[in-house]
Amino acid sequence: MRDKEFFKDLINKVIQGDCLEMMQKIPDNSVDMTFADPPFNLKKRYGKYKDNKEFNEYMNWCKEWIYEMVRITKPAGSIFVHNIPKWLTYFATFLNEIADFKHWIGWDAPTAPMGKTLQPAHYGILFYAKNAKRLKFYEIRYQHKRCRKCEVLLKDYGGKKDGLHPFGPLVSDVWTDIHRIKHNKYRDKHPCQLPVHLMERLILMTTDENDIVLDPFVGTGTTVIAAKRLGRRYIGIDIDEKYVNITNGKLSEEKADSKIGNVWVSFYLGKIDTIRDKDWDKLKKHFYISYPVKKIEYEKIKLVRTATLFSKNEIKEFTNH
Ligand SMILES: C[S@@+](CC[C@H](N)C(=O)[O-])C[C@H]1O[C@@H](n2cnc3c(N)ncnc32)[C@H](O)[C@@H]1O
Repeated sequence: MRDKEFFKDLINKVIQGDCLEMMQKIPDNSVDMTFADPPFNLKKRYGKYKDNKEFNEYMNWCKEWIYEMVRITKPAGSIFVHNIPKWLTYFATFLNEIADFKHWIGWDAPTAPMGKTLQPAHYGILFYAKNAKRLKFYEIRYQHKRCRKCEVLLKDYGGKKDGLHPFGPLVSDVWTDIHRIKHNKYRDKHPCQLPVHLMERLILMTTDENDIVLDPFVGTGTTVIAAKRLGRRYIGIDIDEKYVNITNGKLSEEKADSKIGNVWVSFYLGKIDTIRDKDWDKLKKHFYISYPVKKIEYEKIKLVRTATLFSKNEIKEFTNH
């Protein structure tokens, strides 16, 4: 039975349980964004879940939770499903019947050679709108690639550097600048944890402060941590108590503080990673002061090289600090 009180109690919680059973109790049109990173049926070693279903069993199960995700998403809301391309082709066929296709985001993720096949080098993230005409969507930007030491742009841009956006390009549907977590010191005891700034990018793109983000396969909490850091409300579900405990432990250390001034942004290793295009005007004064200048004030030559990105007046502002 659908229950408003049950739903209210879930907000800002991570609960242990079967996601299908949980979502079936949530009323229609309740959350602003749903994101699912389900088991990929690749025989991974999870705690509780057995990752080796028969094809039909896996597909039928996936259709059930995908249907629930769409149902509980608000009319202006977005639905994301992360998986390997093979399964996404089936999911897309189903999703096309119940939601509006927006993008297949190719997330660059090189793997080891597998022999007699093209080497898989991306995961897909299906991006659907519950209703494309009503979708909440913000254009986002990522930083230009720069030399780590000297801040100089790595890309040539065919002599058109002057016309570039000072922060960086608009994000396309191919993401090559966010990498999978490779080092064990950065990961929990979970076979396939996603990077937090990947989730932050999706959240900045389709939600506002206080909106509700739901992840039915939350694992060790990437989505809910991203949501909390960005001042969104969240609901996380995982069948495995161990992962739920890890997530709750990590969440207790997090604050809603991924901000510059009063603008929500995504950071990675202390650098701004993703911003909303519409926030640039508010951000730029902080950006000049707190980011490039601090790093390069020791070496004037480098300052000038970076400054060529900005207009003359902006360079003056720059060098006055
Ligand atoms: C690919 S992992 C998700 C990883 C997550 N995105 C992260 O970054 O940590 C899939 C998760 O789904 C959980 N799971 C499997 N079956 C489930 C079910 N029926 N309901 C809820 N969670 C389930 C597994 O325990 C596992 O943690």
